Amino acid sequence: MSMSKSKRIALLGSTGSIGTQALDVVSRLPERLKVVSMAAHRNVELLAEQVREYKPSLVSIGSEKDAAKLRELLGDVSGLKIVCGDEGLRLCATADDADTTVVAVAGTVGLAPTIAAIEAGKEIALASKEALVAAGGIVSRMVREKGVRLLPIDSEHSAIFQCLQGENRGSIRRLLLTASGGSFKNRPVDELENATVDEALAHPTWTMGRKITIDSATLMNKALEVIEAHWLFGVDISQIEVVIHPQSIVHSMVEFEDGSVIAQLGVPDMRVPIQYALLYPERVHTELPRLDITQQSALTFAKPDAERYPGLELAYMALASGGTMPAVLNAANEIAVWAFLDGKTGFLDIQRTVRRVMHMYSPVAEPELTGILEADKWARLTATRLVEDGIG
Ligand SMILES: NC(=O)c1ccc[n+]([C@@H]2O[C@H](COP(=O)([O-])OP(=O)(O)OC[C@H]3O[C@@H](n4cnc5c(N)ncnc54)[C@H](OP(=O)(O)O)[C@@H]3O)[C@@H](O)[C@H]2O)c1
Repeated sequence: MSMSKSKRIALLGSTGSIGTQALDVVSRLPERLKVVSMAAHRNVELLAEQVREYKPSLVSIGSEKDAAKLRELLGDVSGLKIVCGDEGLRLCATADDADTTVVAVAGTVGLAPTIAAIEAGKEIALASKEALVAAGGIVSRMVREKGVRLLPIDSEHSAIFQCLQGENRGSIRRLLLTASGGSFKNRPVDELENATVDEALAHPTWTMGRKITIDSATLMNKALEVIEAHWLFGVDISQIEVVIHPQSIVHSMVEFEDGSVIAQLGVPDMRVPIQYALLYPERVHTELPRLDITQQSALTFAKPDAERYPGLELAYMALASGGTMPAVLNAANEIAVWAFLDGKTGFLDIQRTVRRVMHMYSPVAEPELTGILEADKWARLTATRLVEDGIG
């Protein structure tokens, strides 16, 4: 396999939790992986360091002002083009010399560049689940029409994807998505009302970006993953079940028609699914931490408690309503999570806001992209108004 040529990567969200771990994977496999473009939003200093180390030919930052700062920090780097804003993100996503576009920006901002990259015929390694939640129908159709590969980075979906290698999709009985249970899995439900931001950010097993850590505490992350799994694997929601597994060792499972259940296990380290997505179908040796199964005294599995995690039901409701409703769920959640992180609302207001916004909305069936973007915008405005009016 040493003959394989190196894969050229466009990395969107290079300064984030997934982005920096993707770069760590690249550093471990310099013969196999090369970064040709990278995009970030505000973290100019880190982006400048990354550009010096990984030497992409194209780099994008959120604003003109930060692009000027980046230019100043980097001085004259030969062969480097600096761009910015949404257009910069699109240019990075579709960079001529990229084979695979890694979409690892937080939130719906990942949707437009994902679509642009598919249109440009790039293979997609997707971490930004929000893109599939909001526009799963369109993204899956485009992936089919363009004949490009969409590889999941999310550990649960990577696990399912791995369990399905060589299997016939028609023989799937159920997908079992595991969830750690987040920061509040043991806290009495009646104490959740006063949960603080710092408590919610203290995730027991995974270190991740702020939004996804809050989404793990509410289980909204799993709700979004149920929708993501529906689109990635073409499985009906009635066949997707969430299982609380606090150790985060079994990353997900597939139950087949014959009663066999196949699981994928490993230490909770996102670099494993990132590497799998970048080098699929190859498995290459690297010195990442390994699972010592004899050190696991117990692996436990339980049904999620609907009272503790009301957000999960919202995902099933959103998929059942269909059309633009998942986009509304996702956008309202994004606003509600940031309002909580900014100290504007309480922890339980996240669910309340999302539920209220969904109740106020009638979905549009089989939307095109403009319909989805309109629904997304409406949900953001409505959720913002609810937050400002004091939803609690
Ligand atoms: N972290 C995990 O372990 C994990 C696991 C599974 C799935 N995911 C998914 O992966 C995605 C990224 O999560 P994360 O935890 O890595 O988030 P994060 O740490 O908050 O990083 C977000 C990245 O996106 C960039 N970004 C944000 N808005 C942007 C914009 N408008 N244009 C360009 N770049 C922008 C940020 O740039 P700046 O830093 O420069 O502002 C940063 O590089 C999310 O969809 C999440 O659900 C994450």
